[in-house]
Amino acid sequence: MNELVQIAGPPTELIFGDWYPAMRAGELRAGKTAKAMLLGVPLLLGRKTGGSLFALRDLCPHRGIPLSAGWFDGETVTCKYHGWRFEPCSGQCVEIPSLTSHETLDPTKIFASAFPCEERDGYAWVYLPEPGTGRVGDALPAIPEVPKFSTRYRSAHLLAELPCNVDHGIIGLMDPAHGPFVHQSWWWRSRASIHEKEKRFEPLPEGFRMSAHAPSGNSAPYKLLGVYGEPIVTTIDFVLPNRRYETIRCGEKWFSSLTTVTPVTASTCRIDVYAAWNIFYYVPFVTSIATYFGARFVRQDQQTMIEQAEGLRFHPGLMLIDDADKPAKWYFALKQARLKKSGEHPMSGPVTLHWRS
Ligand code: FES
Ligand SMILES: [Fe+2]
Repeated sequence: MNELVQIAGPPTELIFGDWYPAMRAGELRAGKTAKAMLLGVPLLLGRKTGGSLFALRDLCPHRGIPLSAGWFDGETVTCKYHGWRFEPCSGQCVEIPSLTSHETLDPTKIFASAFPCEERDGYAWVYLPEPGTGRVGDALPAIPEVPKFSTRYRSAHLLAELPCNVDHGIIGLMDPAHGPFVHQSWWWRSRASIHEKEKRFEPLPEGFRMSAHAPSGNSAPYKLLGVYGEPIVTTIDFVLPNRRYETIRCGEKWFSSLTTVTPVTASTCRIDVYAAWNIFYYVPFVTSIATYFGARFVRQDQQTMIEQAEGLRFHPGLMLIDDADKPAKWYFALKQARLKKSGEHPMSGPVTLHWRS
């Protein structure tokens, strides 16, 4: 991450009060902890002996040393400095070793910041409340999850760290015009295949959907699904704060993915892709082949954004053009509406956009 932080471009405003994936939950075996950062907040994640995940702000409430410098015995986290001990799911202090019987201080009234932490699709999702809102209540938004359309499926995940802020990561993700340039290759598509497209978009709560019944004929997954000879239905949804859901269905066969762009800090982010499918369920090696090509695809985006970050350091003016950058304009409008809690939506109804890609 360090090199990426060094070349990172300008910061942006962040959306608190929602769930973000911190890391793969499989990295947290029982009794283990790991450090992570989300929205500039240092975290200590871990799994208790009984299996439950926790996410603590990685700072001791006594004098601010990272709790990760201390010890975890599978039940409680002990601070390295003065040995205060915390139950990590609630953050409650259970022991202050320096207290004597003369003292009236009740350690259990003291809390380290603990954030809700839940496992979905193999990620440890952490809910980060608005700063200064104190302890989190029960009415939390739903935890994101990839829709699955059968009980048997395969899955894979990928990640890439980006040296740019979350806005550039997100608009890069919804940008239709970069495909033929950034992702050109024999198995995906070439520049020569550029043609005019017409796509229909409709508003969703805090987002929008692109739906298509006719496949985008020049890309590989569609060609693969085409062998089943049934109509292919695709939907791509973007919803705040950072989620792109894509589902492709063809009769009984389906492919479904969730891509999130998570702010690590105000000026850096990370793309996580989790995909599940039941196409070629019985064919060996499909997962590793899909992961290989998916990783290559994500690396192409990552490399481009590393180069873009070089330019962004000089604070250039930027342009969003119609119609190819219209989804990016909607994203910025939705984000502002969320930050101002205005409830406004940039789309008043379905819209058809045209571009060449
Ligand atoms: S700083 Fe953590 S116990 Fe004192
Ligand atoms: Fe891309």
